[in-house]
Amino acid sequence: MKRTLLVAAALCAAAWAHAADPVKIGFLVKQAEEPWFQDEWRYAEVAAREKGFTLVKIGIPNGEKTMAAIDNLAAQKAQGFVICAPDVKLGKAIERAAKRNNLKVVSVDDRLVDGSGKPIESIPHMGISGYQIGKQVGEGIIAEIKARKWNMAEVGAIRVAYDQLPTGKERTTGAVDALKAAGFPAANIIDAPQAKTDTENAFNATNIALTKNARFKHWVAVGLNDEAVLGAVRAAEGRGIKADNMIGIGIGGAKAAENELNKPQPTGFFGSVMISAKEHGYQTSVNLYNWITGKATPPAEVLTKGMLMTRANQAEVRKAMGQ
Ligand code: GLA
Repeated sequence: MKRTLLVAAALCAAAWAHAADPVKIGFLVKQAEEPWFQDEWRYAEVAAREKGFTLVKIGIPNGEKTMAAIDNLAAQKAQGFVICAPDVKLGKAIERAAKRNNLKVVSVDDRLVDGSGKPIESIPHMGISGYQIGKQVGEGIIAEIKARKWNMAEVGAIRVAYDQLPTGKERTTGAVDALKAAGFPAANIIDAPQAKTDTENAFNATNIALTKNARFKHWVAVGLNDEAVLGAVRAAEGRGIKADNMIGIGIGGAKAAENELNKPQPTGFFGSVMISAKEHGYQTSVNLYNWITGKATPPAEVLTKGMLMTRANQAEVRKAMGQ
């Protein structure tokens, strides 16, 4: 009994000493060059200043860099990290590396999965409901097709696809389901699979799809993020399909969308369902900080909401989203 108490006391003391160390948190993102992730980092820095912890930002474009970043954090005596992994199937390896190094881990944006593709429930997650947000994209497109009085039989839909990422597949599935629910012909929906989730790869994928499908008079485009839809819009422009014949709606609402929506002349990039980089960057960091300092365990899963932003309602939407 006495021995058990002594062991317990020693464990408590160790935990206390650990908690009293200055807090250092890593924020690891798969595509550091993407404005969305830059925003997440910016809001994570706000949390760091507010709570007084050190934030270590690391870009992790591949599996090797991910594992090196986790070891690096441990060597720097960090206590945890937020992660959007370059491949969600690294989930188990990430969980093991975190455990081995005594680091707490929460995921953001892309939910980590195990070997059979199931979400790893033990890693708290903040993301979006991909399907719901995708539906908002599709519904926005339908409203604009109707406003322009297009005949749906003459409209082609590009689905810039990145189906190996579950949230990517959910988003574009939600979008095309909303199109179909409104009577859009399923046969007019064309997949353009992209090799990476950036504008260049979306551009290349869309070019191929447009070459094979020259029969449509008008076009719409959906994708997992703003970069995907921007790639589609640029590819269409290259073929003379401009703002009056293209309705592209992205997802994100960060700088990439903002720059486009503020061009003097409208482009085929009609809008973006704005999601909250603020919550994803700030709140994940605060949740992790609270976990490390023993204040609270993060919620198992939080799905944040989005709002359709167009040239016309930008200021309103930004205000409503607090960004
Ligand atoms: C994924 C996408 C990003 C961004 C986030 C938002 O990670 O690749 O572009 O849309 O989701 O959650």
